[in-house]
Amino acid sequence: MEAIKRTKISDLLKSTAYGTQVNVRGWVRTRRNSKQVAFVALNDGSTINNVQVVIDVEKFDEEQVKLFTTGACLSVNGTLVESIGGGQSVEIQAVEIELLGACDNTYPLQKKGQTMEYMRTVAHLRPRTNTFGAVFRIRHNMAYAIHKFFHDKGFYYFHTPIITASDCEGAGQMFQVTTMNLYDLKKDEEGSIKYDSDFFGKQASLTVSGQLEGELAATALGAIYTFGPTFRAENSNTPRHLAEFWMIEPEVAFNDITDNMDLAEEFIKYCVQWALDHCMEDITFLNNMFDKGLIERLRSIVDTEFVRLAYTDGIKILEEAVAGGHKFEFPVYWGVDLASEHERYLVEHHFKRPVILTDYPKEIKAFYMKQNEDGKTVRAMDVLFPKIGEIIGGSEREADYGKLLQRIEELGIPMKDMWWYLDTRRYGSCPHSGFGLGFERLLLFVTGMSNIRDVIPFPRTPNNAEF
Ligand code: 4AD
Ligand code: MG
Repeated sequence: MEAIKRTKISDLLKSTAYGTQVNVRGWVRTRRNSKQVAFVALNDGSTINNVQVVIDVEKFDEEQVKLFTTGACLSVNGTLVESIGGGQSVEIQAVEIELLGACDNTYPLQKKGQTMEYMRTVAHLRPRTNTFGAVFRIRHNMAYAIHKFFHDKGFYYFHTPIITASDCEGAGQMFQVTTMNLYDLKKDEEGSIKYDSDFFGKQASLTVSGQLEGELAATALGAIYTFGPTFRAENSNTPRHLAEFWMIEPEVAFNDITDNMDLAEEFIKYCVQWALDHCMEDITFLNNMFDKGLIERLRSIVDTEFVRLAYTDGIKILEEAVAGGHKFEFPVYWGVDLASEHERYLVEHHFKRPVILTDYPKEIKAFYMKQNEDGKTVRAMDVLFPKIGEIIGGSEREADYGKLLQRIEELGIPMKDMWWYLDTRRYGSCPHSGFGLGFERLLLFVTGMSNIRDVIPFPRTPNNAEF
């Protein structure tokens, strides 16, 4: 075959260089035949759109053309011509075609319109579909937008450890990391496992959050963010929980909770605006296929001010709803950890826009949050979103050494694990705040997909670590 430099389909579809010889490579999405010509729709992942390859059957070996089946990989040399049919601007009149990889009829993606559940069983191939191609292109764009947002604001990207010996959220949902022989565990007289012979000489786990180390960095570099994999062994089989997800955690010295809320609101709006500005083809496809209100919802988020409301006032609204006859599955009372149905009631029914709920009871929040003067609540802030519920969790941090130490003791957190964290409050302590955004929850919102398993390439959930 004549050697012609490959053009990506995304570039080709914008070209008006009619009559030139081009080369494209990609996978066959569909093939239609008429008597004299075969039409092959080719996709190379650079865009959701296919390029149509027109094959004059007389000029090609009939047996070879039969091999250009759905899923096959082709390299096509041909003439770029203006398309007469509707839809596309250009197509390719094939001159030479090389079959790079054949694909037989056992290919799992031959039929269109398969369920999302089925697609998860073929997660190794699903990026080749329109839907998952769109989702993963948006995923990339969002990751880029996040780095750009923080970099432009002068934040430093700080790498916190993935293997850790401390439980940041104190929720005991950690996956252990060990090289010990599980068939022959050494135990002490009380029956506790002896970790001194383990790889790290102590019990180690996969991180549930980079925040504690992020605080060390913020109290040195001023403003930092982390963006990394996060692991939680919570046995919640919901459309919003993963055992392995990605979290973005900014942490800023001298920010109080109001600054923190301002940052969170600006950050989310920036990301959504970025998607509208850079991913419109993919978003339009998802809007039309799955969620007719998607584009509308994205636009409205960028334009509306988020509600800011104290937890106590939120509970009042929910109690009034119950009194008015609204049925929740879980009870509502001051002190309860809100369920997703409660959060969504506030956002979708009551206010009809995102809500930042603040000042939660200290019992349902982590040890590091700044305590309010009332002795009952802490300066927490959760950002609640339509269709998602909690998308961000954060707080102003307790900067007072004595108060922090007291809370650590009250909760029975082992001090020997916490000495280095307490040093931030011993040496030049400062007010500071931060939050964590669940990357996949943001993607749920931006793509309109309804299950978190469908916005990460290879989901890890209870009983599932395939691929
Ligand atoms: O509210 P969380 O647990 O907060 C923290 O981890 C803090 N250390 C953050 C901070 O202040 N730096 O988690 C933060 C966010 C949640 O709002 C949610 O979006 C996401 O992480 N998240 C999950 N996403 C997917 N699957 C899970 N199992 C998640 N758990 C939390
Ligand atoms: Mg939370």
